[in-house]
Amino acid sequence: MIWVFVQFASTIALAVVSGIAALCASRVYHAPTKGKSYSRLRSSLVWMGIGGLVFVVKLTAVVVLTASDEVFTEDKWTMQLPMLAIPAAAIVWFSVPAARAIRAAAAVKSKEPTASQDRLAAAAPRWVWPVQAWFTGSLLSVLQQLFIAEWPLRIGTVLEVWLVYAAAVYLLWIRAKSRYRRFNETGTPQGNRALRLSRKGGVVLAVVLAAALWFMLGAQASRVPDRMSMAGHEHAHGHAIDAAATTPSVSFAGLTGPRTGKPDRSFTLEAKKTTVTLPSGERKEAWTFNGQLPGPELRVKQGDLVEVTLINEDVDAGVTVHWHGVDVPNAEDGVAGLTQDAVMPRQKHVYRFIADQAGTYWYHSHQQSSKQVRMGLYGVFVVEPDAAPPRKSADLAVVLHDWQTENGTSVTLGGLNRLQRKTADPGSLVRLRFVNAGNLPAPIYVTGTPFQVAAIDGTDIHDPAELTNTRLDLAAGGRYDVTFMMPDAAVGISRQTGPFSQEGNVLVISPSNEGMPPDAVKVPVFDPASYGTPAKTEFGPDTRYDRSYKLVFDNRLGFYNGRFTFVQTINGRVFPDAPMFTVREGDLVKMTFANRGFEDHPMHLHGHHVQVLSRNGKAVAGSPWIADTLNVGPGDTYEVAFAADNPGIWMDHCHNLDHAAVGMSAHLVYEGVYSPYEIGSATVNLPE
Ligand code: C2O
Ligand code: CU
Repeated sequence: MIWVFVQFASTIALAVVSGIAALCASRVYHAPTKGKSYSRLRSSLVWMGIGGLVFVVKLTAVVVLTASDEVFTEDKWTMQLPMLAIPAAAIVWFSVPAARAIRAAAAVKSKEPTASQDRLAAAAPRWVWPVQAWFTGSLLSVLQQLFIAEWPLRIGTVLEVWLVYAAAVYLLWIRAKSRYRRFNETGTPQGNRALRLSRKGGVVLAVVLAAALWFMLGAQASRVPDRMSMAGHEHAHGHAIDAAATTPSVSFAGLTGPRTGKPDRSFTLEAKKTTVTLPSGERKEAWTFNGQLPGPELRVKQGDLVEVTLINEDVDAGVTVHWHGVDVPNAEDGVAGLTQDAVMPRQKHVYRFIADQAGTYWYHSHQQSSKQVRMGLYGVFVVEPDAAPPRKSADLAVVLHDWQTENGTSVTLGGLNRLQRKTADPGSLVRLRFVNAGNLPAPIYVTGTPFQVAAIDGTDIHDPAELTNTRLDLAAGGRYDVTFMMPDAAVGISRQTGPFSQEGNVLVISPSNEGMPPDAVKVPVFDPASYGTPAKTEFGPDTRYDRSYKLVFDNRLGFYNGRFTFVQTINGRVFPDAPMFTVREGDLVKMTFANRGFEDHPMHLHGHHVQVLSRNGKAVAGSPWIADTLNVGPGDTYEVAFAADNPGIWMDHCHNLDHAAVGMSAHLVYEGVYSPYEIGSATVNLPE
C-alpha cells in the first residue's frame, strides 16, 4: 500500500516546508526596504501555501489508511493532525490578516527604507507565531513517527506529546511577545547579545542533557538479562502475562517425537566452517552442514520416522536445527534457549519426528539465526507423498539465497551464481520446489512454458490454474512448488528480467542440455488470494474463535539489547518485551496482522500452519491458502486462523531474520507449558 509511504513522506515534507515558511516569516521584519519587505512577505506566503497543499496530501493519506484499518492512523488523529491543524487554522485566522497589514506598507521592488512603524507589523506575534507553532507541530509529528510505535496507544503517551507541544508553543509565544515589546521600545528586536547567547546555550545544554539521559536509561532498560526464560512466567521487564499460564503443569520434556523405535530414515548433519568457491570463482567463508552449500537435501517419505543427528564440529557460537514449516513436536523444534540448548563444538543432539505432511520444507540453525543462515547453515527438507510419482517426472529443489561474497552481495539460485543446466524429457511432469532462504521477498520468473503453482508452504493448492506471464514473489522463508509439463524446448528460471546468458544467475531446463529459453520480461505478480478454486476448510466466516489476537508491525528508532538502532516492533515492543500469545490446546485462534512500517514482514509461526482468511479486508477467493510464512507488506492487513493443536512454546517471528535480530520476535505459549531452557549472556543460547 503506497499510502503508508505517502503519509510518511508528506509528514517529512511538511516539516521542511513549514520550517522554511517559519524562517521566511521571521525574516520579514528585518527587511531594510519596502521592496525586500514585499518579496519576503511573498515567499513566506508561498511556502505557507505549499505547506497547505502538503498537509492536504497527508490528510488524504490518513483518511485512506483509516478506511483500511484504524491502527494505521490512531497516532495521526490523536497527535499529529491536531498539532498541525490547530496552527494551520491560526495562520488563516491571525497571520493572514497580519500579512495584509504588512503588505499595505510594502511596495514591489521599492528601494525606499521600511518605516519602523511598518516593521513593527511584521514583528507582531500574530504574524510569526502561528507559523512557528505549525513548524513545531510538524517537527513533533516526524519525531513521534520515528520514535513512538506504540500499540495500543496509551492516553498517557498522547498527553505527554501534547504536553511537549504545548510547552514548546508557549515558549515560542513568550519569545515572540518579548521580541515585539523590545522592538517597540528600542526599535530593534535583538536584546542584550550576551544574555541572548547564554539563554540559547542554556536551551541547547538542557536538550543535550535530556537526550543523553534518555539514551543512557533507554539503553540500560533494553538490555536482556544475563539469564531469563524466553517463555518465562513474566516478561523480562516485568509485564505479567495471562495468569493461567503461570502454573506450569505440562512437562516440557514430554513434548518430543517418538524417542524409541527404528527410524525409517536417519541422517547426520555436521556443522563446520568451510571456505567455498562459487562457480563464478568468488571465494566465500561459509558455515556449512556436511561441507555443502546449501546443506544436503534431505528427502523422506510421508509417514517416515526421521532421525537426524546434529554434530557441531567447530561453529563456536553453537548450532541447532529448526525444521521450518514442519509441525514437529515442540521439543524437536530446534530453537536455542526455548526447546533445547545450543549444540556447542564437539557436542551432538538427536532430533526424531514423524514426517506426516508431504511437501517442501527447509531446515536451518536457530542459534544466531540471522548470522548462521546467512553463513550457510541451512538446507532443503522434502517430504515426498506416499503415492508413487508419475512414470516420467523430474523433481528438483531450487534454493534462493543471497551470498555476501568478497564482491558484495550476489543472488543465487540453488547456491550457485552461474547458469545451471538440468535435463528433463519432453512430456514429463516437472516439479520445482522453490525455497526462499533469504531475508527479502524473491521474484521468480518462469519462461518457456505455462506452469502451475501446485503448493504453497507445503500445502497443495486446490485446482491450480495454468499461469503464463506471471512473476512469483516468494516470501522470505516461504516455498512455492511449481509444476509444468516439460515442452520440447528450454524452460528458464530467473530472478530478474532480461535474457538468459552463461553468466546469468539462472536455471535452464531442457531436453538435451542445450538451447536458451525466452527472455524474462516484466509481468504481473502472482496472487495466492485468488488462485485455484475454493474447497472445504477448517475455518470459515461462521467460525467462532476462542481467542483473537492482533499483531501490529512497525519500525522505529530505539534500543535493542543496549544498542541504538532501527528496531522492528510487534505491538510497539521488541523482544523480550514483545507480546506472548497464550492459548489452550484445542482453541481456535484468529490473528490479525497490520503492518504500519515500511518493510515486508514475512511472519512465521512455528509448529502450526495458518489459513489465510482475508487480505486488506477482502476474503480469500481462490483455493484455501495455508501458509507457515506469510509476507505482510507495508500497509497490508491480514486475518489468519489456526487450530491450537500442537502444545508447546512456539516462536512467532519475522523471517527477515535481520528483523528478528532487532526485536521482531514473539511467542505462542500453550497454557501450563514451561521451558527449562534459558537465554541471555550467561547462557549459550542466542536464538536470533
Ligand atoms: Cu525458519 Cu524461527 O524460523
Ligand atoms: Cu520483518
